[in-house]
Amino acid sequence: MTKNDTYYEHQPVLLEESVEYLITDSQGIYIDATLGGGGHSQALLSHLDSNAQLIGIDQDDEALSAANARIGQDNRFSSIKGNFGYLTRLLSPELHGEISGILLDLGVSTHQIKEADRGFTFQKEGPLDMRMSNLRGITAYQVVNEYSYEELRDVIYHYGEERLSREIASEIIDRRPIETTTELRDAVEAVVYGKHQIKSVARVFQGIRIEVNRELDMLRQVLDQSLELLKTDGRIVAISYHSLEDRIVKRFFRAGNHKGEIEKDFYGNPLSPIEEISGGIIRPSEEEVEQNPAARSAKMRVAQIIDPPEV
Ligand SMILES: C[S@@+](CC[C@H](N)C(=O)[O-])C[C@H]1O[C@@H](n2cnc3c(N)ncnc32)[C@H](O)[C@@H]1O
Repeated sequence: MTKNDTYYEHQPVLLEESVEYLITDSQGIYIDATLGGGGHSQALLSHLDSNAQLIGIDQDDEALSAANARIGQDNRFSSIKGNFGYLTRLLSPELHGEISGILLDLGVSTHQIKEADRGFTFQKEGPLDMRMSNLRGITAYQVVNEYSYEELRDVIYHYGEERLSREIASEIIDRRPIETTTELRDAVEAVVYGKHQIKSVARVFQGIRIEVNRELDMLRQVLDQSLELLKTDGRIVAISYHSLEDRIVKRFFRAGNHKGEIEKDFYGNPLSPIEEISGGIIRPSEEEVEQNPAARSAKMRVAQIIDPPEV
């Protein structure tokens, strides 16, 4: 099995729903900001006309090569390597304000999780890496071995949402150097007992992954930039996999800013440039979760630009 094949094993989550919500103009310009193996993009292309455009973004070389092998021959499709947190810089200025839809299928792909050498999974022994991109940035090794007690505790508490963050951070520091995913898992299991042990391990890994990839900062940045990139009536479909991401998306879709407070004009009319049109969270059906357990935590929200932002 080649690396590309494991990419194609990734089953796109909420596929029909995301295509249906995203496409408002079958001749428009669309951005798949989390291209992965191209599952969503392939479906989008099958609903777009011959003069539409789809630009796929990913920071992972392996994702780009898998997606290009799958849909690269389609002349409506092009791909760009980069972090979606810098989307306005990745797209040429003529496209700003011209985009009909942006898709964000957040997090990591099945492939990234399955490959032990990427260090995302606690189910296989691997190096402490967890970078989605080889562009630059710190690795999980640095977080685990070089952060102060306070920094490590905060990462585990805030990004992993793990209650026993103090105990786990102390144990990790006592065991340094920690070289592998298995050693990190052992450190967590040494201080968390009972049936919740595996959940705590998953939470610690999640927290460190979010820190390594600056996932929440990049999400805030791409949401901000979507206001400049999307045309009026253009949409963002965001699929998140944990409550930290969903909270950021929810606030932004409510108000067009990260405080979640809707600005009002002199007369008290709301000034938000964006409006959530999904009526809250859309979740995968029971059948989808049964068929693809990785979809179980997915939460999709959709918003639409209602007024061009003043630039
Ligand atoms: C859940 S997967 C997407 C799977 C894809 N929708 C499919 O159907 O094959 C998320 C992808 O987004 C990429 N990604 C996550 N955060 C990113 C970021 N800040 N910038 C660019 N790519 C990112 C990951 O590398 C991964 O390939």
